[in-house]
Amino acid sequence: MPFLTISTGSQWKQTDAKKKAREDKQAEADKIRKLHGYDRKEKSDPNRPHDFWDTQPVPKFDAADPTSSEEGPMEEKHVDEVQKEPYALPNDFYWVSMEVTDEEELKEIYTLLYENYVEDDDNMFRFDYSREFLQWALMPPGYHKDWHVGVRMKSKKPGKKDKLVAFITGIPADVAVQTASRGKHQQIMCEVNFLCCWKKLRGKRLAPMLIKEVTRRVNVLDVWQAVYTAGIELPKPISTCRYYHRSLNPKKLISVGFSRLAPRMTMKMTQKLYAVPKEPQLKGIRTMEMKDTESACDLLNDYLSKFSLHPVFSLAEFQYWMMPREGVINTYVITDESGKVTDLCGFYTLPSTIIGNPEYNTLKAAYSYYNVASTVSLDDLMYDALILAKQLDFDVFNALDLMDNASFIEKLKFGIGDGNLQYYLYNFRAPSFNPNQTGLVLL
Ligand SMILES: CC(C)(COP(=O)(O)OP(=O)(O)OC[C@H]1O[C@@H](n2cnc3c(N)ncnc32)[C@H](O)[C@@H]1OP(=O)(O)O)[C@@H](O)C(=O)NCCC(=O)NCCS
Repeated sequence: MPFLTISTGSQWKQTDAKKKAREDKQAEADKIRKLHGYDRKEKSDPNRPHDFWDTQPVPKFDAADPTSSEEGPMEEKHVDEVQKEPYALPNDFYWVSMEVTDEEELKEIYTLLYENYVEDDDNMFRFDYSREFLQWALMPPGYHKDWHVGVRMKSKKPGKKDKLVAFITGIPADVAVQTASRGKHQQIMCEVNFLCCWKKLRGKRLAPMLIKEVTRRVNVLDVWQAVYTAGIELPKPISTCRYYHRSLNPKKLISVGFSRLAPRMTMKMTQKLYAVPKEPQLKGIRTMEMKDTESACDLLNDYLSKFSLHPVFSLAEFQYWMMPREGVINTYVITDESGKVTDLCGFYTLPSTIIGNPEYNTLKAAYSYYNVASTVSLDDLMYDALILAKQLDFDVFNALDLMDNASFIEKLKFGIGDGNLQYYLYNFRAPSFNPNQTGLVLL
């Protein structure tokens, strides 16, 4: 799961006008956190005791990289040993498997996330995953409805539907991890995402229940490893990446407090600085079509194989994840004379709600997905990605510093975000690695 990391560093400060309101809100949020027994400082100390995570097959936060005998699964079990019944929940709550093909249920998931999912540290923005996006993210080839786990709260009012109050999801993925002693280890893992709990139920240890229950449902199907990301530090990241932001609509970004005018810069100068041409610059770049997918899939798998953590796509999976879907995922290719794809870039659409802003409701953000450049430079390819995103009216283009992204981040005028995105493996020890060895993007 990506984490909205809006920088509050020198380059990306909120405006003073909004600061007071934010501070009041923050004080209120801190009060709630204290009421729940953990304040911000305590929560961000990764060495603190973890009542839940200390019981799980994950390395301790300060553990050294594993020795060769320690590499691999931390715990090995047989499906017969897995508890058949769901974990018990308090009386008023019960487990459900959410049906994302059902419009009503999809809307319930959408609303839970829309109102309660990830916010930036200053509570100014909250992810707004669209329904179409959620269907895309949750229904890849071989998905299991059972891994879309919800918690409902029994309604006290007769006839009223039981409210969806918490959610967590898993999807299967073929993932490769670099080990020191056994080379690349490739297997089906569960990619965990969309952990979310209704705000009124925070601090009640519901998250560990969700994680345990999704783990049980994954284990029942003989899958024992998972990969997930989080903005917070838990035991123990395998890699730590950072978000960078490229302004496409600086005026709006400044107006909503996402970024601020740099010292000695006027709005006009800033707009000029971030202006991009109207049309892409690379010859032959165009939207990917079905006919391109076979060679594009080979190109991407080949490229990804150089990283320490990466997905391995079957053709069906590649088509699923990379074929364009309006308002969800855009993919562009360049081909040679024979029609073989030589270069590929993609970004997905993930807007954020701008909380309490009278002028704008939504920040339209594009997120860099998978990019491979073989006949053009990655800088030039990503410059075209920015232009194409601008054509689609995105306000900002976000990218992590993973894969080869660091090479274009500065040149293309990305600004650094203010938080990290940690990558984690569940029940698998391997040496940690740098962002530029990370080849997996989770939505
Ligand atoms: C994430 C969320 C479900 C956690 O719920 P909560 O009520 O704050 O926490 P709970 O009391 O239920 O559980 C606390 C435990 O969950 C763990 N936890 C909290 N957030 C977590 C995360 N993102 N991933 C994994 N574990 C997490 C805590 O570390 C703690 O375990 P520990 O004592 O072993 O350290 C909730 O804060 C939320 O919905 N936040 C908004 C959405 C969000 O940030 N989702 C995660 C995206 S990465």
